[in-house]
Amino acid sequence: MNKPAISVVGLGFVGLSLALVNAKKGFFTVAIDNNEEKIKKNSSGKTPFYEPLLDSYLHYSIKSKMIHFTRDLHEILNTDITFVTVGTPPSKQGEIDLSQLKSVTNDLAKILKEKKKRHLVVIKSTVVPETTKIISKRFKNTNVGILVNPEFLREGSGIHDLLKPHLIVIGEENKKDGDALERYYLDFYEKPPEILRTSTTTAELIKYANNAFLATKISFINSIANICQNIPDSDVNTIAHAIGKDTRIGPLFLKAGPGFGGSCLPKDILGLIKFSEKFKDANILFKAVRQVNQNQPYRILEIMKEMGVLQRGKRVSILGLAFKNDTDDIRESVSIKLVNVLLKKGLDIRVHDPMALGNFRVLFGDKITYCTKIEECLEKSECCILLTDWKQYKKLRRINFIKKMKDVNIIDARRVLDQSKFQELNFRAIGLGSKIYR
Ligand code: UGA
Repeated sequence: MNKPAISVVGLGFVGLSLALVNAKKGFFTVAIDNNEEKIKKNSSGKTPFYEPLLDSYLHYSIKSKMIHFTRDLHEILNTDITFVTVGTPPSKQGEIDLSQLKSVTNDLAKILKEKKKRHLVVIKSTVVPETTKIISKRFKNTNVGILVNPEFLREGSGIHDLLKPHLIVIGEENKKDGDALERYYLDFYEKPPEILRTSTTTAELIKYANNAFLATKISFINSIANICQNIPDSDVNTIAHAIGKDTRIGPLFLKAGPGFGGSCLPKDILGLIKFSEKFKDANILFKAVRQVNQNQPYRILEIMKEMGVLQRGKRVSILGLAFKNDTDDIRESVSIKLVNVLLKKGLDIRVHDPMALGNFRVLFGDKITYCTKIEECLEKSECCILLTDWKQYKKLRRINFIKKMKDVNIIDARRVLDQSKFQELNFRAIGLGSKIYR
C-alpha cells in the first residue's frame, strides 16, 4: 500500500516537528506557512527556533527530498491528509483566538471543493470544545473528512514525544474517516500506541483536561512548597518524592518552582476558565490553579526582601530565562515578570541563558546586561536567582559563586543545586520550598 502524502499547515513548534518526523518516516510532506521568512529559513536548512534533534531532522528531510516547504496552500491538493497546526493564541480577554484557524479552514474548504478523492483535514491546533463541529459546516458538499487529533508533545522533547506518544486520540464525525486516520497511524508506528476513538468534541476537551491537570499538579505542589517555605526543617522535594510513590498520585509534574510558563499551560488554563464561565461553578478549581501560579514569582521577591537585596542599585544575576530547559522559548516565562518588577525597583540586572538570550534581548534591549558565560553573570553580584533548570547549572558548586559574587545570596527557584553542598555560615542559599539551606 502506498503511504499517504501529508501536508502540514502552520509551522510553529508542533507543525514543524510533525512535518519533519513525517518526512523522516518516509511520508512525502508538504510543509506550509504564510510567513515567507520561515519558509526561506527552513528551505535553506535552518530551523527558526531551538529544539533538540530538529536540525538533524531538517537536514535529513531536505537531503532525502521528502519535504517541500511552500507558502502556497493550494499544494495540499498533492496530498491526502492535511494536519492543521496553526496557532490559537489567547485574545486580550483570555478566550482563545480562532482567527487563524477560521481563515485557514475557510481557504482549505475552497481549495478542496473540486477534489474528487477523499481528503482528510485533521485539526491538531488546541481548540475549545465544539469548534470543529462549527468548522465542519464549511466542508459541506465536499469530499473532505474532518477530524480532531490533539497533540501532547512537550517543547524540549518534541521529536521524542512524536515518536513515542503515550496515546493517539482520534476525534471523528464518521467511522470511515476515523478508520483512514487510524490506518495512517498504524503505518506510521512500528509499535503503535493505544489509539482512542471518540467524538470531535470529546477529543477537543481531552486536550484541555490534560493540560489543566498538569497545571493543577504544579500549582498543588507549589502550594505545599509555600507552606514549607514558612516552617523550618521541611522540604517540598522530599514530600513530592513521598507522595509520588503513591501510584494514585504518581511522581511526575510535582517539581515545585517559580510557576509554570510557556505557550500552552497558562493559555489553556485561562482558555478553559473562559470557556466554562457559562457553566455554573465549573471553573472554581481552574481559577485557583491560575491564581497560585500568578502569585508564585512573588515568593522570589519575598526572599530577596528577607535577604535585604531588593533595593535600588543592588546587582542581581538571573540564571535561566527560558520557560524550561532545552528550549529558547521565553513565552509566558517567569523571567519576564521578574525582570519587569526588578527593573521598576531599580536593580542592576545581569542575565544568562544557554539558548534564550537573543529572544530576551528583543524584549528588554539595553535595559539589562546579557552574559554568555555564567561567571560573567555572577560578577560582583549581590543575589543570584536560578530560574530555569538547565543542566549546566546543576554543575555549579559553592566556589563558583564565592569566587565571583560580592555577597553570596542564592535563590534556587528550581532546586537545581545540591543542597548538601550549600550549608555554610555567611552563605545564604535558599531553595524554594525549603528552609533547610539557611
Ligand atoms: C505542555 C504539556 O506538558 C504537553 O503535554 C502539551 O502538549 C503542551 O503543553 C501543549 O499543549 O502543546 P510544554 O508547555 O512544552 O508542554 O512544557 P511542560 O513540560 O508541560 O512545562 C510547562 C511549565 O511547567 C514549565 O514552565 C515547567 O518548568 C513547569 N513545570 C513542569 C514545573 O514547574 N514543575 C513540573 O513538575 C513540571
